[in-house]
Amino acid sequence: MTRPGTGVPQWAMVDQGWGHKAVDFATLSEPGNCREYVAVHHRLGVDAGDRLLDVACGSGLAIELARLRGACCCGIDASARLAAVARDRNPGCDIQVGDMHALPWEAASFDVVTSFRGIWGTTPDAVAEIHRVLCPGGRAGITVWGHLKISPGAWALAPFRLAAADKVDNQAAMVSLGRPGAGEQLLQSYGFAGVERLEVPFTWEFADPELYARALAATGPAYEAIQNVGEAEFRRAAVEQAQAQLRDGLPLRADINVVGYLARKP
Ligand SMILES: C[S@@+](CC[C@H](N)C(=O)[O-])C[C@H]1O[C@@H](n2cnc3c(N)ncnc32)[C@H](O)[C@@H]1O
Repeated sequence: MTRPGTGVPQWAMVDQGWGHKAVDFATLSEPGNCREYVAVHHRLGVDAGDRLLDVACGSGLAIELARLRGACCCGIDASARLAAVARDRNPGCDIQVGDMHALPWEAASFDVVTSFRGIWGTTPDAVAEIHRVLCPGGRAGITVWGHLKISPGAWALAPFRLAAADKVDNQAAMVSLGRPGAGEQLLQSYGFAGVERLEVPFTWEFADPELYARALAATGPAYEAIQNVGEAEFRRAAVEQAQAQLRDGLPLRADINVVGYLARKP
């Protein structure tokens, strides 16, 4: 799919947003996702000798943690600037810049494929690619945003709504895979078996409102909001949001509902 009027594939535009503050994302935002990575790797039984692919690998922290378990890892992300950090963190790993809808690996290349909030309601065909590159008996683990509105940490995502209305609508479509039954149905429709749904631990912690605002500003959805209202206003709104959450002597804490799906290629 190309972006209207540009002839440029949609995925090639992703770096504009996700890569715009790659170093901030890698150091201030991605580490907050570590509970999710550890939980999914554990449930998938990632172990020495596994050939593992992480789809939409961001700046590669999940890959680094899978390598600590002994897996031999590859990754792909549409953002060249995030992939550069992922390569720096994971020397010797095959980390590609590309589209999750056309994975540049042969069929049956991997024992395990993961994707952490990389596959959404708007990108379901990537599941067909994950199925293709898994070997028979291979394991898949994907996570998606769950019911955000009821999450205790919903406040932490609220500044994304400063994006233009069409972008906010698209953000809503992107979380549709977390709805009960949606992910199970999708994975089964692409030939996966033994689909299991799990609650995934996901908590962001920040030292103070300014660090929270800086970390959030480094994400793709924040870039859409910044395009609409400017960076200064985005950060001001984010700081205000966080100030209401301050607790004496404790970090800012945002527990967010994330859903995981484990499945197997028969
Ligand atoms: C929510 S972030 C998740 C990143 C990483 N998995 C993590 O846990 O932090 C979504 C990622 O998907 C990547 N992405 C978006 N569209 C993509 C596409 N078509 N193909 C590959 N990666 C894509 C973005 O660059 C971004 O790194």
